Formats: sequence, C-alpha cells, structure tokens
Amino acid sequence: MIETPAALRPSVAHERAKSIMPSSESNTTPLPTFEVSNLSIWYGEKPAIQDVTINIPSKTITAIIGPSGCGKSTFLRCLNRMHELIPRTRIEGKVLFQGQDLYSPGSDPTVVRRRIGMVFQKSNPFPTMSIAENVVIGLKLNGVRNRTLLDERLENSLRMAALWDEVKDDLRKPGMSLSGGQQQRLCIARAIAVEPEVLLMDEPASALDPIATMKVEELIHELSAKYTIVIVTHNMQQASRVSDRTAFFYVGKLIEFGETTEIFAAPKEKKTEDYITGRFG
Ligand SMILES: Nc1ncnc2c1ncn2[C@@H]1O[C@H](COP(=O)(O)OP(=O)(O)OP(=O)(O)O)[C@@H](O)[C@H]1O
Ligand SMILES: [Mg+2]
Repeated sequence: MIETPAALRPSVAHERAKSIMPSSESNTTPLPTFEVSNLSIWYGEKPAIQDVTINIPSKTITAIIGPSGCGKSTFLRCLNRMHELIPRTRIEGKVLFQGQDLYSPGSDPTVVRRRIGMVFQKSNPFPTMSIAENVVIGLKLNGVRNRTLLDERLENSLRMAALWDEVKDDLRKPGMSLSGGQQQRLCIARAIAVEPEVLLMDEPASALDPIATMKVEELIHELSAKYTIVIVTHNMQQASRVSDRTAFFYVGKLIEFGETTEIFAAPKEKKTEDYITGRFG
C-alpha cells in the first residue's frame, strides 16, 4: 500500500496525531479500522468477491470504484455483516475490525451494525415517521429513553449532517416531506445518531443534483475527522475529490488500491487506467 505523503489533509493529520497512541501493532502505526484478508463471497454458487485483501486505515476516506456488478456493494455489506440478511450468501476469509474478528462466534451482528453504520444509494427515511423520529429511532431501538439525551443527539446529528438549519422548525413534519438531497442528509443524520465508528456509504449522492451532491461531499469530508468512511461511487470526479485512498474492483477482484492521487494520476494496472479514463464501465 502506498503511504500518504506529508501534504496533510485533516483526516491524515488526525491519523498521524493518533499514531503516538500505543496500539497492539506498533507504537507508530494506528490499528487499521479494517484488515480484510483473502475475502471471498458467494451468492449461492455464484462468486461475487474473490480473494480480496485490503487494509483500511482509521479516520480516512476510502473510495471503492469499478464497473457495475463488480462487487462493490457486496464488499461494503460484508464490512458490517449486512450481507447476512441476504439468503444463501457464503463468506470465506477474514475481516478484522480494529483488530477483532468481525465474524467470530462471539461477535454480535446487531452491535457490529451499530458500530459500523451504513448509508444507502436511495435515501430511505421511515415513511410513517417525522424528521425527528427518523433521526433518533436507532437510539430508541437501543433502549435510550432519556428525553434530554434524545433531543441533544437529534440536534447534534442534524447539525453534523448539515441539515439542522433547514429543518429545525419542522422537526415534527414527515421525513418524506423533505427533498431528495435533504432526505439523504436525514439518513446520514440517522446513521450518525447512534455514534458509530465507521460510515459505509453506497453511492450516497448518485440520485442527487450537483448542489446536493456538493453538500454531501463536504459533509463526508467533515465527517472524516471523526469517522472512517468507505464510499462506493460511480463518479470518478467524486472519488478523486473526496477520498484519501481508492480501491478499484473488477469482476469481484481488487485490482489496485492506493493513494487516490496516485491511482488517478499514475495507475499501476492497465485495467485501472482503462476504467478511470472511461474506456469501459
Ligand atoms: N442479493 C443478491 N442475490 C444474488 N446475487 C447478487 C445479489 N446482490 C448482488 N448479486 C450479484 O453479485 C455480483 C456483485 O454485485 P454487487 O451488487 O456487489 O455489484 P456492484 O459493484 O455494487 O454493482 P453496481 O455498481 O451496479 O451497484 C453481481 O453479479 C450481482 O448479480
Ligand atoms: Mg452496488
């Protein structure tokens, strides 16, 4: 993996600051958020991911790119055990989350999904719930009843999702009454309300106009100070704008992974170059 240079973006600065903390690996390198080794995933008999090995460093933004059907969403879902909700999936290999085996018998998928949040391509507010209820539902399901705490989290999450100013007077209105871009930020607020450590985002801006897209991208950049973010995108400009590192997948395999500036300026693999220059995909 290519090392990040000293030209420091905030997320990288944070990573370096953290590197003075002791970790079980070494005194200088923080534990990666994910250490994925030899991961393969099947739907029934059909392989979707084959032998993928990748380390995702803490508090960085990683973009996953590649043509439709190459396994990006499948890979993302296995990082918080979401793929298990799909019948007949099988997984081989290892996923360590902060050094711990995500798939060990003692690991609880519900806890995993709270610590590793997910935002989907289509914004999906709960249709019968208000804006406020949509944000705090995860907390309530986790047993939080304290009104003050719920109100605090509601406001903080909406502020972090850059939506507070637009909705603060309409918190009791249905979540569905918001525009598409606002609904997507509402879903981001919902994902961060439970204070996860990681945000997985599957094409979070693909249905949005350029202004809403820009807001979501700014938000992603701000969130990276606090979270490790893995974002799937079909938009090459977006990958190069928002991410520290980029992983290129092709037919279920990880072809190349490295610093985003390197991947886009000087890819090592011909397949990567063909894809990012629009020769296929
Ligand atoms: N629920 C499912 N059941 C069976 N096969 C699936 C399922 N989801 C995905 N697949 C298959 O796994 C492979 C990878 O799909 P995946 O959705 O991960 O690709 P993707 O890279 O996210 O594509 P896209 O860019 O179109 O979203 C595809 O061949 C797809 O048909
Ligand atoms: Mg997908």
